[in-house]
Amino acid sequence: MCGIVGYIGYRDSVPVLIEGLKRLEYRGYDSAGVGLIVDSKSIIVKDKGKVSNLEKLLDEKGLKSNIGIGHTRWATHGEPNVMNAHPHSNEDGTIFLIHNGIIENFNTIKMSLLKQGIKFQSDTDTEVIVHLIDSFIKKGNSLFKAVRLALSEVEGTYGLAVISSNEPDKIIAARKGSPLVVGIGNGENFIASDVSALIAYTKQIVYLDDGEIAEITCDSFKAKTIIGDDIKKEVIEVTMSLEELDRGGYDTFMLKEIMEQPESVLNSIRGRLVFEEGTAKLGGLENVFDKLADTKRIILTACGTSWHSGLVAEYMFEQYLRIPTEVEYASEFRYRNPIINNDDAIIFISQSGETADTLAAMREAKRKRALCLGVCNVVGSSIARESDSGVYIHAGPEIGVASTKAFTSQLCVFALMTLLLARKRDMSLVDGQKIVTEFQQLPDKIRKILTLTSEIEKIAEVFKDAPNFLYLGRGYNFPVALEGALKLKEISYIHAEGYPAAEMKHGPIALVDENMPVVFIAPSDSTYDKIMSNIQEIKARKGKIIAIASEHDTVIDTIADYSIKIPDTIRMLTPILSVIPLQLLAYYIAVKKGLNVDQPRNLAKSVTVE
Ligand code: F6R
Repeated sequence: MCGIVGYIGYRDSVPVLIEGLKRLEYRGYDSAGVGLIVDSKSIIVKDKGKVSNLEKLLDEKGLKSNIGIGHTRWATHGEPNVMNAHPHSNEDGTIFLIHNGIIENFNTIKMSLLKQGIKFQSDTDTEVIVHLIDSFIKKGNSLFKAVRLALSEVEGTYGLAVISSNEPDKIIAARKGSPLVVGIGNGENFIASDVSALIAYTKQIVYLDDGEIAEITCDSFKAKTIIGDDIKKEVIEVTMSLEELDRGGYDTFMLKEIMEQPESVLNSIRGRLVFEEGTAKLGGLENVFDKLADTKRIILTACGTSWHSGLVAEYMFEQYLRIPTEVEYASEFRYRNPIINNDDAIIFISQSGETADTLAAMREAKRKRALCLGVCNVVGSSIARESDSGVYIHAGPEIGVASTKAFTSQLCVFALMTLLLARKRDMSLVDGQKIVTEFQQLPDKIRKILTLTSEIEKIAEVFKDAPNFLYLGRGYNFPVALEGALKLKEISYIHAEGYPAAEMKHGPIALVDENMPVVFIAPSDSTYDKIMSNIQEIKARKGKIIAIASEHDTVIDTIADYSIKIPDTIRMLTPILSVIPLQLLAYYIAVKKGLNVDQPRNLAKSVTVE
């Protein structure tokens, strides 16, 4: 979703802003713009479409400035066009503002500003804020105070940055519900909605919290709460590197992220397995471990792919821990006044740690005093910071919009949690050690699956023009079927549905004919015979069968039109392997259709509005 970058210091801000905006492209956007102060005059340059269009415009104009703010917009209020792109300005063009989030009371504010004769130039909710700031400046307030007073009248969410040609030595930044960080440099300072936009320049980061506002000059930083109290903020050194943010020789981030799963999975489990004790070690859970061990119910809450990983975790927790587990869409959980008991543990799963619904669901659960745990990838993200405790998945930066390595790393973390808690309950040392050994073999097994790319590419060629796909699995592999279907639809725009294989007979089978590809996830586990019957049922109706099966299964080759073989592992860990061919199948189908897999249409990497 929308991205923010800002710079003040000794360099020319234009290349800094453009590079930062390019680093944020993965979030998804439809227009881009910058606001600069050049020779005491404010200048806005904005355009529809890609940051590269904006870059060309700026090159043509040859503008240079030591202070600037830049934005990529993902339309919410008002169509994606130049007029609605950010920055927005006040009537005399002295103040510029960029904003992520949604102003819920914009209509009320707009009505009152219109009554005062203010003229609006866009259809956005954002524009009301800049006029409101202007009205406080006209009452004699400084820019910092005017922004603070304006924001106390605003309802909704924001991460925003403001500059003014009347106070050209500062950027004002504020946050409520939409991430914003300050990057501290030497004689220069930065702001951004995402650390990745700043990492080329500084690793010293201040994370603004909700309800905070900051004034940044080239050599100072001060922060207050929106109500005006002074606050001290901690500077944190981040470890992310530039190399991690590059494509590393792959055509796309998505392919790079699929191919690096042997390493990302290893990073998720590294230092967390204790063979001698047949258990796992998760430092992030130590302070809540006793409460977690005694919990009577676990609720997993998330959106999209992270929700699918929660569904797999439900199978793990119920099989090994015998703790009743529920999985909820965060968007439903937050609004339906959920019943939460004292001895419940609620786990919030989010790659970005910024998903608006998941964050709001967590805040709701915290209000009800539940034990809230975060399972996040992005270090220092809102969910990671606000949860009572939690575990990082350590997948490394995920840039491709379609989540791949974060899913397999989330599953690793849930399997580690399962092992840790099961060993405190009734799992034997020997069984625990068997699981540890299986964990250790995962990276090599993933490597083996990744050698199948050309085989999977050929299958993609056969089915790339199919209008529909069905994905079917049972038990642990039912959520994998949902995830396979989601991957395909989001990047190839082919309609795909995932179902528990047996449910197929209760409706979806009506869709099956010789044109319907059906992907079965059918490893040789306790559900194998049942799923083989389901495959026969599809075969009888001439559906085309693509089977993900165990490497020693030769029977399946006699029935399936295509089979992709994966190494065996224990059931709990199977989804970490079985999902990989599905990621590759979706990837190659989208590439063969000539689509942009890293930035699919309408999608955003980090969904920071509800
Ligand atoms: C799918 C995908 C989305 C995200 C969802 C939640 O490939 O990426 O469905 O999984 O938006 O995002 P996080 O995990 O960041 O909360």
